[in-house]
Amino acid sequence: MSRQDQVNLLKRLLHYVETRTTAMADSPWRNEVSAYTDAERLKEEQRVLFRKHPLVMGFGSDWPTPGSFSTDDYAGLPVLIVRGRDSKLRAFLNVCRHRGAKVAQGCGKARLFSCPYHAWTYDLAGQLMGIPDERCFPDVRGERASLVELPLCEKHGLVWVIPTADGSTDFDIDPWLGGLADELASFGFASWSFYDRREIPETMNWKIVVDTFNEGYHIGFLHRDSLRDILHGNVNDFEAFGLNHRLTFPRRKLERLKAEPEDSWDLMWNTTLVYSLFPNTVLLVQGDHVELARVFPRDGRTDRAVMDLGLYVPKAPSTEEERIHWDKNMQLVLDVVTGEDFPTGRSIQIGLTSGAQTHTVYGRNEPAMIHYHQSMRTALGLNV
Ligand code: FES
Ligand SMILES: [Fe+2]
Repeated sequence: MSRQDQVNLLKRLLHYVETRTTAMADSPWRNEVSAYTDAERLKEEQRVLFRKHPLVMGFGSDWPTPGSFSTDDYAGLPVLIVRGRDSKLRAFLNVCRHRGAKVAQGCGKARLFSCPYHAWTYDLAGQLMGIPDERCFPDVRGERASLVELPLCEKHGLVWVIPTADGSTDFDIDPWLGGLADELASFGFASWSFYDRREIPETMNWKIVVDTFNEGYHIGFLHRDSLRDILHGNVNDFEAFGLNHRLTFPRRKLERLKAEPEDSWDLMWNTTLVYSLFPNTVLLVQGDHVELARVFPRDGRTDRAVMDLGLYVPKAPSTEEERIHWDKNMQLVLDVVTGEDFPTGRSIQIGLTSGAQTHTVYGRNEPAMIHYHQSMRTALGLNV
């Protein structure tokens, strides 16, 4: 974001705080309850959103050096991501070309991948290197020379994969970002470090997990004992970028800026910036660090989800003091999200399933809720 855009955003927030108002949608919007409860809708989301859209897989620093690899099945497919000897990051279906076992487990560092079943081996670029007793497999190597590659893009410090093997190995994320590319690039995430990660399984629709981050209306109430003293409730700036958006929460200390010269105003220190990277990722820029929440449906059920929550920092900590500081930040987000937001999310899932109402309603003060769910209908080819 340009310096002037940062100052303008801070001025809008100061105005909202002073006038006790917030960014507003034109009118409330009613979303079908079935968006959260209907099994056919979930199948469609999995077919379209989790196969045809780029999904954030992490920061590039999750795979810091050649041989760094990770595996996960979150998107409903076994995915292996590995940085090659040429430093290029590649994604593969984690499926052995012999009989389909996972060739890599967990995450870490590898020189090659040896399938645990019959020890077919693959190099870091996915090429099939060795077949034990190859004389039993005449003419087989040529027809299956490598793991099946998925299109991957590493850009702006982040990594996206489109989880469909269509023969392509890369793509450009920028057209998907709806004008957010320069702003993402401006943070310089390429040089940031991974700090910590938690996998949090939940018993609610995956979109209720995402909705946690889509409005500040609840901050003064649900978070009265935690965030209310840090963030203003029900005051947000909102901007859409195609299917994505930025929601900005002013910190309470923002008002001190009025007594300071504009050229000293700092956006990150005075706000929490929440980027929704459609369809399932929320990037929270929290003053001095970033939290990345990737959310997926789980077990093919409308009422099961999993959140992969990562914490990233501008530079790897070198002292115990720094580690204590980042641990405290991780604990704060876990306390607030799993201790306050998610119990409410579980109750929402039960409420939506109860038949009490056919539609849920998002207010004018919840423009990001409206934009996110309307974007989803657009992506799914449904009427908005
Ligand atoms: S399934 Fe991998 S070597 Fe047999
Ligand atoms: Fe919350």
